[in-house]
Amino acid sequence: MDLNDKVAFITGGASGLGLATAQNFIAAGAKVLLYDQNEENANKAADELGANAIFAAGDVASEEAVKAAIQKCVDAFGTIHIDVNCAGIGFATRTVSKDGPHRLDVFETVLRINLLGTFNTLRLCAEVMQNNEPTNEDGERRNNQCCLGRRFRWANRSGCLQCQQERHSRHDAASCA
Ligand SMILES: NC(=O)c1ccc[n+]([C@@H]2O[C@H](COP(=O)([O-])OP(=O)(O)OC[C@H]3O[C@@H](n4cnc5c(N)ncnc54)[C@H](O)[C@@H]3O)[C@@H](O)[C@H]2O)c1
Repeated sequence: MDLNDKVAFITGGASGLGLATAQNFIAAGAKVLLYDQNEENANKAADELGANAIFAAGDVASEEAVKAAIQKCVDAFGTIHIDVNCAGIGFATRTVSKDGPHRLDVFETVLRINLLGTFNTLRLCAEVMQNNEPTNEDGERRNNQCCLGRRFRWANRSGCLQCQQERHSRHDAASCA
């Protein structure tokens, strides 16, 4: 995929997988918005990435905050072509141990960030991406939504989460799981 002049909205962009994605995208000529709840790290990362990177701080599970960040991205770069979802937390423990059952509040928090937050971002970015100009004479658009580091497996068919944006970009979406 040619990333030159493409605009990417990257959650968890201040660290790890998200930051590595942003570095590679910038090197390939893309513009990025780093969305992360760690404002200090996001600010520092955007500074280091240069003029084609900006950041917004907030929780992926907040409709209001993600909407505001998307608006910031659109105001700065015109649109969004690519949405990469890396924001997340990991927590692994036994369902039950000698100390008792797995804490339900912890499980709920992981689901809220990793699942609800990812879906929240997917749907709000998709709303912008569906209005992108066609990129060829058949009216096709090249938009991509990726969920990195997740164990979710959504079926790859038109209308499903990870490839909902454009059935014509199915080959690109299929590479993301
Ligand atoms: N790195 C791996 O090899 C690997 C493997 C499997 C799964 N994962 C999962 O992928 C995700 C990213 O991994 P990573 O290594 O990049 O982790 P990381 O901790 O380096 O980066 C995650 C980023 O997400 C941000 N974040 C966390 N909760 C957020 C929220 N509610 N809203 C906005 N931003 C939030 C953090 O501030 C952080 O900058 C995690 O969920 C991790 O469990 C990673």
